[in-house]
Amino acid sequence: MKDFILYSGSSNLPLAHEVAKILNITLGKVDLTRFADGELRPWIQDNVRDKTVIILESFSYPMDEHIMEMVLMGDAIRRSAPRAMIGVIPYMGYSRQDKLHRVGEPVSARVIAKFLEISMFDEIIAVDLHNDAIVGFFQIPVTHVSALETLAKEVKKLNVKNGIVISPDVGGVKRARNLAYLLDMPMVVMEKKRFLDKHDTSEAYQIIGDVNDKTAIIIDDIISTGGTIVNAAESLHEAGATSVIVCASHCILAGEAVEKLSHAPIEKVIVTDSINMIADKKFEKLHVVSIAQLIANAISESVS
Ligand code: R5P
Repeated sequence: MKDFILYSGSSNLPLAHEVAKILNITLGKVDLTRFADGELRPWIQDNVRDKTVIILESFSYPMDEHIMEMVLMGDAIRRSAPRAMIGVIPYMGYSRQDKLHRVGEPVSARVIAKFLEISMFDEIIAVDLHNDAIVGFFQIPVTHVSALETLAKEVKKLNVKNGIVISPDVGGVKRARNLAYLLDMPMVVMEKKRFLDKHDTSEAYQIIGDVNDKTAIIIDDIISTGGTIVNAAESLHEAGATSVIVCASHCILAGEAVEKLSHAPIEKVIVTDSINMIADKKFEKLHVVSIAQLIANAISESVS
């Protein structure tokens, strides 16, 4: 392995420390101070000349601050003559704005990709992007890794009988098909209706397939307000599913999500640590599995 340094922004220090531990290194030193008016002033405190430098940052809330941290740290490092600079994004906020949903809106995921290119990152490692096509928004290499195997391992521990994998919307069919393959289970798709004039509101309105007497395993990339998952779980129960287990790569838990998910007809919610979970968002059914090994493997391959 070449000489490399791993830095972390402030979004997910526990994950960064875990990755560093697996790679048998300590995190690089960066001072993330701010001026009195709030402007960020990162200061890299190691000699990075001729080294491969990696910056880990999840674009989770407050996403604009975390993106800015990554971009400014990137600029600070680039000015110190590294051999190469790799950005690791366990969760890419703005990735759901991956197309022109209605005239007059931005394609924000493309803008974020541009930001990272301008900051002269040589490569990006990203985990479960909302849409595979986002890789094509970058003009630099993107290693797109998936947490599906990590999630599947946890589901297998539950010894589910008569299980069926559910995609809660048509956009997630490929993800559900891949999980179904890993679990050796059949798959069913649900249709979801979104309301463009009402943010974060959706309705599950059709199940394409039979879930009667089955344990439904819903797989989604993101849980934000929990609306998609809760609506899907209720519809699945109405259609005869005996129990519902939820898997997702990125667990945001915005607004009333904790409350909603706690009271929903869901047995377990299995998510990863791509987003740092603050203590008051934890609830009984929630089970967090780490993607530190997945990221460490991707870093090892990139720097070898
Ligand atoms: C949307 O296409 C995503 O895959 C998720 O289904 C969505 O982001 C979940 O959001 P919420 O939890 O607010 O329904």
